[in-house]
Amino acid sequence: MLTIGVDIGGTKVAAGVVDDSGEIVEHTLRPTAADRPDVVAETVADVVRELSQGRDIEAVGVGAAGFVDETRSMVRFAPNLAWREEPLQKKISGMVGLPVVIENDANAMAWGETRFGAGRGQSHVVCVTLGTGIGGGLVFDGALFRGRWGMGAELGHMQVLPGGRQCGCGNVGCWEQYASGQALVKDAREIAEAEPERARTLLGLAGGKIEGEEVTEAARLGDEASLAAFRSLGDWLGQGMADLAAILDPGCFIVGGGVSRAADLFMDRAREAFGERITGRGHRPLAEIKLAELGASAGVVGAADLARRR
Ligand code: BGC
Ligand code: NA
Ligand code: ZN
Repeated sequence: MLTIGVDIGGTKVAAGVVDDSGEIVEHTLRPTAADRPDVVAETVADVVRELSQGRDIEAVGVGAAGFVDETRSMVRFAPNLAWREEPLQKKISGMVGLPVVIENDANAMAWGETRFGAGRGQSHVVCVTLGTGIGGGLVFDGALFRGRWGMGAELGHMQVLPGGRQCGCGNVGCWEQYASGQALVKDAREIAEAEPERARTLLGLAGGKIEGEEVTEAARLGDEASLAAFRSLGDWLGQGMADLAAILDPGCFIVGGGVSRAADLFMDRAREAFGERITGRGHRPLAEIKLAELGASAGVVGAADLARRR
């Protein structure tokens, strides 16, 4: 039986028809305006209609970057997007006439990776996705952990630095302000402003405004400021995973999301920092830290599979 998985990102909606072995049979991508909830819901309905033509679709799973309620129908809050008490499930199912399940985007990704990607065969998986923010997903003994009200595993909002950077969630010092794509750019901009002589390559590449792509490119060309920004990201990532291991003792961490495409620039440091800071070191096995395998399609595949098991 086929289901459709949809992954709503900051600028794009990715969707695919997925079979029960996790294979994407057909997929599509649409730009969307994440700051306009009605437009997003319509875009999702459009792609679902397009993908269901001539097919028997059982259900639709939608991954959304926010706090999804325990009935998996409302996005109650989104730190980096415009959703507030957004009845996404009702809107979309009303438009497409199919059963719809809403899931946190990182939960969907973690589920996809655990079932069909880097976490196959693992019993205790912690997934960390590095994009604009940091998403988290926990899969223990084949079950996705959601917490009491559906909002568990918001790993990006652990407050790691008292008095630290302002976060989109309203708090300060959240982990996603130090180890996400957004954090990378903030770090690089700060260094480039304070010590422009260390950021010559970066400033040359970026012209006016420094963005993530340029930080990556400049780091590969040896730009000091960019390398320092990646080092800081790796450091905070390893630190955070060490803290998570203290609580959860997973057998494996999976690191994914757009920023992980530049894994060669920070994963060594992350693994090192993890080993240096995990509590009880020397007296415990170290969790494996793996890269996600399904890339950009993990969320689509995971959401589709969760819809099948709804
Ligand atoms: C949000 C999460 C989301 C993550 C990744 C965080 O800021 O709080 O709900 O999973 O970003 O998109
Ligand atoms: Na999550
Ligand atoms: Zn936060």
